[in-house]
Amino acid sequence: MKGNQRRAPLAEAVEAYAAGDARPFHTPGHKQGLGAHPRLRQFITSEGLRADVSLMEELDDLHHPTGCIAEAEALAAELYGAEAAYFMVNGTSGAVHTMMLAALSPGDEVLLPRNVHRSVFNGLVLTGAVPVYLPPVMDERLGIALGITTETVSRALAEHPAVKAVLVVYPNYYGVTFDLLSVTALAHARDVTVLVDEAHGPHLRFSEALPPDALSCGADLVAQSTHKLLGSLTQTSMLFRQGGRVSGEAVRRAAALLTTTSPNYLLLASLDIARLQMAVYGDDLVGRAVRLAEGVRRVVNDSPGLWCFGEEYMGRPGAEALDVTKVTVQTAWLGLSGRAAADILRRDYHIACELTDAYNVLFLLTLADREEEALFLAKSLKDLAIRHRCSPLERPHISLPELPSQAAAPREAFFAPSEAVPFPEAAGRVAAEEIAFYPPGIPVLCPGERISRELLAYLREVTALGLRVTGPEDVTLTTIRVLR
Ligand SMILES: Cc1ncc(COP(=O)(O)O)c(C=O)c1O
Repeated sequence: MKGNQRRAPLAEAVEAYAAGDARPFHTPGHKQGLGAHPRLRQFITSEGLRADVSLMEELDDLHHPTGCIAEAEALAAELYGAEAAYFMVNGTSGAVHTMMLAALSPGDEVLLPRNVHRSVFNGLVLTGAVPVYLPPVMDERLGIALGITTETVSRALAEHPAVKAVLVVYPNYYGVTFDLLSVTALAHARDVTVLVDEAHGPHLRFSEALPPDALSCGADLVAQSTHKLLGSLTQTSMLFRQGGRVSGEAVRRAAALLTTTSPNYLLLASLDIARLQMAVYGDDLVGRAVRLAEGVRRVVNDSPGLWCFGEEYMGRPGAEALDVTKVTVQTAWLGLSGRAAADILRRDYHIACELTDAYNVLFLLTLADREEEALFLAKSLKDLAIRHRCSPLERPHISLPELPSQAAAPREAFFAPSEAVPFPEAAGRVAAEEIAFYPPGIPVLCPGERISRELLAYLREVTALGLRVTGPEDVTLTTIRVLR
């Protein structure tokens, strides 16, 4: 590598400013901690407050970087094998929105699987692009959506020749990948841009035991959640670019539209340090996470009543390979929904999980975990299985409703006048709001879609399982907001 990956130029610039002798007559108002309330000082520490600085010449400009930010972004691009990297401080949602605004214009058709994260649906409102949904492969045994098949993409591209871009989630929340290499080749053959929400894959390139990452599969723009799985602070992400389909100017222009003019330098510096950490220790840390996760998986699969799928469950269309550091434990055979099992684990074993669904609980093993944490998780799950051996959960077959028909583009629906109507009266009306269950945050209904009776029945069923509803104004779903 050309750059010195052991340096963190952005973090160093912030440290140098904080340690310098400049008397602050500038923002932020607490003036590097001078005016901070003691509780804030205790919380952030004096060192942290001194480093909470902004907009100094020597700290560069996130919107037009030429100094330490440019250097830090170049090092990140080099590490990930991209042409350019962009530091993001509004989560991966911000990175996804930037990616969409850079590549899409109002009216452009974009192919996307229905199980994209809600940030993508919001991106449709921002861009005015029109979605063409791809059905993901559903897995009955797991009760979750997996990836998409190459055939589905091929058919959709043939049926919608004007499509401007394909936007996919890779891997999904549970670590399942699909054949992105073939999808990218198909799209590029038609000069269609490939946008990848790789929120759950910033660690993939650091272990050969993991599926290939999106940049090595040829994607044009890739949004990664550095904060979710690596060592940066919450809210920080990176966007990567390669190839000539989307220009660097288009990305900067989109980012400027969506990003504060006063980015937090603690957040930015944490991205720089997370990159350094991965450059120096990434292979060892991710290798350890893989080993520990496989150990937990073995114990789980030796515990009657529990099941954790692994690589052996992959190798078919829509489920090509698995990021094994995602440990999905099916608890339904113990007679426990994922949520019920998670509640017991939290209460009796002090274990907090990442996500639950009707049948499963998802645990993440990351660079942070040591033998001790993995053993504790494995032992607790084994104990849970012993204590709760009872008749399997009756699996209500939650048939996914037909994809709602689109009566208005998401952006059009967002700005149209609307009203709240009682739940049963929403049948036949056009939704003015999104309804999703979180996690994993996959919308069942999006603004602009027509509400059918089957969809209302589905919403009732899933709500009864106790999953948290997000999106609608009335989360009890007593009323639904529809277009007037
Ligand atoms: C696939 C996917 N994309 C994007 C996001 C948004 O990330 P953030 O919470 O950092 O905005 C999430 C969050 O869960 C996600 O799961």
